[in-house]
Amino acid sequence: MSSHQVEGNNILNDWWAWEHKGKVLNRQISGDACNHYYLYKRDFEMMKNMHHNAHRLSIEWSRIEPNEGEFNKEELRHYRKVIQELVNLGITPIVTLHHFTLPYWFAKKGGFLQVDARKIFERYIRRVVSELGDLVKYWITINEPYVYANFGYLEGKWPPGEKNIFKLIRVLRALFYIHLDSYKTIKEIYKRNHWGSSHVGFAKHLIWFDESSNKTLIDKILVTIYRYTFNKSFYRAFYSGRLPFVLGWKKVPEARQCLDFIGINYYFRCICKFSLLKGFQVSHREPDRERTLSDWEVYPEGLYNVCKLIGRKIKKPIIITENGISTLDDNQRISFIIRHLEAIHRAIGEGVDIRGYLYWSFIDNFEWAEGYTQPFGIVGMNHRTFERIPKSSSQVFSEICKTGKITDNMIKKHAKNIRERLLREN
Ligand code: BGC
Repeated sequence: MSSHQVEGNNILNDWWAWEHKGKVLNRQISGDACNHYYLYKRDFEMMKNMHHNAHRLSIEWSRIEPNEGEFNKEELRHYRKVIQELVNLGITPIVTLHHFTLPYWFAKKGGFLQVDARKIFERYIRRVVSELGDLVKYWITINEPYVYANFGYLEGKWPPGEKNIFKLIRVLRALFYIHLDSYKTIKEIYKRNHWGSSHVGFAKHLIWFDESSNKTLIDKILVTIYRYTFNKSFYRAFYSGRLPFVLGWKKVPEARQCLDFIGINYYFRCICKFSLLKGFQVSHREPDRERTLSDWEVYPEGLYNVCKLIGRKIKKPIIITENGISTLDDNQRISFIIRHLEAIHRAIGEGVDIRGYLYWSFIDNFEWAEGYTQPFGIVGMNHRTFERIPKSSSQVFSEICKTGKITDNMIKKHAKNIRERLLREN
């Protein structure tokens, strides 16, 4: 989960301002969201009963530093209580430091484009990690740098609503350095406090790109370009010590030592096509394929592919930091989960080091520019009473978490289409 999507009343960040300008679908606002800020204990208890052994959450920077340089001790105490609660329940917290939202004051000054951005972010994380580090082993510095930069600075669908490719590139470069800074700061704080080991990474959205069935040479080239620019380029410095061409081709040898795990967020595949009539097209699906409520193609094979692609390049453990489906049909969700876990299982069998899987999301929540129209949760919610309503998928997922197994029965019932292949292979 991420703070703004579930907590409610994050009134001091750029998204709150954006929503109140009517920029979200149906002019919705996040409002009370899932009221998780107050109901976190109940939610964690549910997770515990569902046998979850890890939970990803994010810290809301605008609560911690509501005005520039002023830190709110009470909010820091709040997050300490939240994380302590998880630890007490035996659920490993995986904590994100930046998940799309910015304090309004920081956004107004230019966000990550301002000259002091790195210094300011460093001050924030220094404070957070010093206060919470003794309870946390896993840190995610940034969530989805490309998605953040693309929607905010190229497509203009998210704050600050810009459409400027040069700014997009500058933001990406800033985020890259922010990750390096954060990595070093976290390590230094852990060392100074004798807190033992920490695992620091970032979560990157990966898409599997393919040619359409009647492919041409141009389509093939297009696919190669997309696989490189979207999936691999941001990782380049972490295995080669040099930034990719688009980000400046600069040598950054220290980057090789600044990643402990690879966080992969995977949702769908895209098809690349060039035609004289329509030009370059990157669409979300092949016609007639299974898709989600958000019109994304369901393509478990893509998760297997991206894990192999990145796992081969960077020899670090992988955690699937997000994978999920927005749908009104919970049977489709169950099938989605089983098929994606099977894809992971296959990749592990072929030597890819995948250590964990976090379903997105625990509860239906505020889906950014789409407002409350995209139910990703294994738990639903009554928006008036905030009552949590577990879906059948939460039971199946719970069974898998408890036993670490997908049974033949589950496959027969929910994922028939992979059964034949599995029988053949075994
Ligand atoms: C984001 C989440 C979002 C999810 C589903 C990811 O891009 O990290 O915040 O809810 O996808 O769209």
